[in-house]
Amino acid sequence: MSFVEYGDTIKDGDTAIVFLGHESMFPVKVQHGTVTQTKYGVIRHSTDLIGKKYGSKVTCSKGGWVFILHPTPELWTMNLPHRTQILYSTDISVITMMLELKPGSIVCESGTGSGSLSHALIRTVAPTGHLYTVEFHQQRAEKAREEFREHGVEHLVTVTNQDVCKNGFGVSNIADAVFLDIPSPWEAIGHAKSALKAEGGRICSFSPCIEQVQRTCLAMEEHGFTEINTLEILLRVYNVRTISLQIPDLGKAAEDNSSTGFDSSNPSNRGSPSTNLQQGTVQFKSGMPLREMVGHTGYLTFATKS
Ligand SMILES: C[S@@+](CC[C@H](N)C(=O)[O-])C[C@H]1O[C@@H](n2cnc3c(N)ncnc32)[C@H](O)[C@@H]1O
Repeated sequence: MSFVEYGDTIKDGDTAIVFLGHESMFPVKVQHGTVTQTKYGVIRHSTDLIGKKYGSKVTCSKGGWVFILHPTPELWTMNLPHRTQILYSTDISVITMMLELKPGSIVCESGTGSGSLSHALIRTVAPTGHLYTVEFHQQRAEKAREEFREHGVEHLVTVTNQDVCKNGFGVSNIADAVFLDIPSPWEAIGHAKSALKAEGGRICSFSPCIEQVQRTCLAMEEHGFTEINTLEILLRVYNVRTISLQIPDLGKAAEDNSSTGFDSSNPSNRGSPSTNLQQGTVQFKSGMPLREMVGHTGYLTFATKS
């Protein structure tokens, strides 16, 4: 297993995702002789995991079962140990597209933080690209290096422990794209410009506050960046639900409607409104937006060096 290549079977040393449900999953480091507790009982790595196929349904000691999933950057983002605030897949997907990333791209990033974005960047630029990521907090930089090693992607990433605002990215004229998620991105715009290729490239800065965005846009303009553009991405999630509505009693008209010959027990009618389930009600499937949605994460400011 690696985060950039699919492996069919679970091996000693892999990072696997134990999936109990959409709202309940966690990563495990697979190790001979180790056990993992779940609410359905124990999973024994040597007998229940190693040698089994990814995607297998594994029965735990109390008789309940879980699925063991191959890791992906998206699953890692949902399950990683937080050392900082992180970026989520909605923002990450737009960042990847707007920075025009693809296999072979060279990307500079700061700060590494918890490595949520880094894993997605690495997967996109693999197998021939590279990520240069800068983190000034020493323990976070070391932890990120350790995770990249465990996830089989260390050859695709260089973690540098320094202040990006003072010392830059440690590379010049090689990047196709630069990404910033730090409190004062305007102080790193000059370094971003020198990290980008002489012929140009793309930059993105993520900031929660509009005052940070204003200063960053000014710095981008001063350094000659063009196509400066700020976006916010909001995700609206829908659940599929069966809705029951009371039919108003309209006397004869209602009687006529109920004699249309519609047979709700016929499987070919499933998904269509059905009337015979309970007298006086109609049931149908509908997409319902969640009552609560994720609000503001941050503004994404994109620009081009040309
Ligand atoms: C919000 S976190 C980044 C999260 C990351 N994008 C992710 O998805 O996991 C910001 C990180 O930037 C680091 N940082 C802040 N200022 C920095 C600087 N001037 N140079 C390098 N790293 C910096 C912090 O230590 C922190 O780990």
